[in-house]
Amino acid sequence: MLYFREWGEYPMNSLQKRILKDGKALPGNILKVDSFLNHQIDIDLLRLMGRDFYELFKDKNISKILTVEASGIAIACYAAEYFKVPVVFAKKGSHKNVGPDVYTAEVFSFTKGPSYEIAVSKLYLHPEDKVLIIDDFLANGQAVLGLQKIINEAGASLVGAGIAITKAFQPGEQLLLDAGIDVRSLAAIESMEDGNVIFRSDS
Ligand code: G4P
Repeated sequence: MLYFREWGEYPMNSLQKRILKDGKALPGNILKVDSFLNHQIDIDLLRLMGRDFYELFKDKNISKILTVEASGIAIACYAAEYFKVPVVFAKKGSHKNVGPDVYTAEVFSFTKGPSYEIAVSKLYLHPEDKVLIIDDFLANGQAVLGLQKIINEAGASLVGAGIAITKAFQPGEQLLLDAGIDVRSLAAIESMEDGNVIFRSDS
């Protein structure tokens, strides 16, 4: 995979370097990161990513990290090591194992088909919480909007969203910015044409 940047060199972070080394850009603008992020997991990389998220949000008095199962959990946990706060993950599908006292949201998935429900127990989100959302991919933004709804229902504050890989050519990022969410990405991909991943310069 090649990396182009017409306006000169800049230091890439660990995730960006790894995407260029081991990511696979598939037809349909799908980036395969199974070998290090969302099937096999490279914990040394996740530790570095956790530190990068901490650097982005360390001044925000985060009290809780919120993500969605499954792939967000490991990333959120490594970030939580630095913030020293608990991780809560929203459960997908039927929420019968969480109990009746849950906040729920419907998430429409453009990439994987129909909508699904996410749920978080009312025990684990409180009005005084300052919540950082962490997720692996941002494509259409629906998962983050669902989490935002849950945070709002809990009366907690959404401080921002830390995303590992943002497909910046899809609508999600702008949707979240328009909703007033402070979205920051470790790797914002501007385009993936012909198998070449091009990062946006500010990520
Ligand atoms: P959205 O939340 O931003 O609206 O995303 P969208 O519905 O478009 O995508 C839903 C699922 O597809 C998410 O996983 C997301 O991580 C994944 N996805 C989107 N684009 C890519 C891509 O280019 N590469 C890979 N590998 N995954 C992509 P999910 O259903 O939540 O799955 P999981 O967390 O259980 O693994």
